Amino acid sequence: MKGIVLAGGKGTRLYPSTNVISKQLLPIFDKPMIYYPISTLMLAGIRDMIIISTPEDIHNYQKLLLDGSQWGLSFSYVTQPKPEGIAQAFIITSHLFKNESVCLILGDNLFYGRLDFLKKGIAENQSATVFAYEVENPEDYGVVVFDKQNKPIEIIEKPKNFVSKYAIPGLYIFDSSVFDFALELKPSARGELEITDLQRKYLAMGELNVIKIGRGIAWLDTGNPSSMLDASMFIRAIEQRQGRKIACLEEIALIMGYVSINEISKWIEKMPSSNYKNYCLKIIEEFK
Ligand code: DAU
Repeated sequence: MKGIVLAGGKGTRLYPSTNVISKQLLPIFDKPMIYYPISTLMLAGIRDMIIISTPEDIHNYQKLLLDGSQWGLSFSYVTQPKPEGIAQAFIITSHLFKNESVCLILGDNLFYGRLDFLKKGIAENQSATVFAYEVENPEDYGVVVFDKQNKPIEIIEKPKNFVSKYAIPGLYIFDSSVFDFALELKPSARGELEITDLQRKYLAMGELNVIKIGRGIAWLDTGNPSSMLDASMFIRAIEQRQGRKIACLEEIALIMGYVSINEISKWIEKMPSSNYKNYCLKIIEEFK
């Protein structure tokens, strides 16, 4: 299965911080935001990823992430000329897929905790799988409504009136028909190809699997300055308590067996002196 990390958009809610830099390159505590969704895909076993960003920003992602081989990954880069909707990700990447399933993660979605829910979703996916997470502010998300038997019956993008407390995080698994379905979408009232409309297609066919994510997982939002700061403080609190970094891609590459100690050591040697480098060196010692 290939992954897509969607890291375009205007980031206007973070203006002026996003005036000259893409939102998903801004730091969440001690590393760029995009490290977190990449780490999520890596931990789920996905090594082949497509990074999407704007024509203005894509070169910065290439500069930061290279071809991915330093982490035993393979990155391709695709530009989205205008932010015309999350579902457009499938239209602009379809040429890179051959009858394959895909896992899309939004570049500003952070997950912390055991990723069994994602591994299960990937392993058991038949057609499409999304996740449901209880939140205080469902009106800010795509939400899923369940009936009394816990069967998903409706999906609504940012409902004005309360219909469900279950938000759908920006992490989706689709089979290869998603590339054709995306072409059939019409822009919504706000002019976007909505990811929720794609989910509704699968729901209408009775082929949408919805997995509830329990409270043991943290799904963090980075949509505005306050939620970004909250996410940074959350990451810092755990990292300082445990002395372990979250989303250190070098460490994950080693744990997952994507690289050898020798390979990663050469990469780490080239890092400038920093707390991050010191951490990576400590990890190498532990692995020896
Ligand atoms: O975070 C989960 C939510 O993400 C879902 O519950 C919603 O169903 C989904 O529509 C989306 O809602 P947002 O309001 O967060 O969408 P936003 O427009 O902020 O886009 C999310 C990220 O995707 C953002 O970091 C920018 C990127 N993006 C967005 C669009 C519309 C792109 O790269 N290209 C785009 O065309």
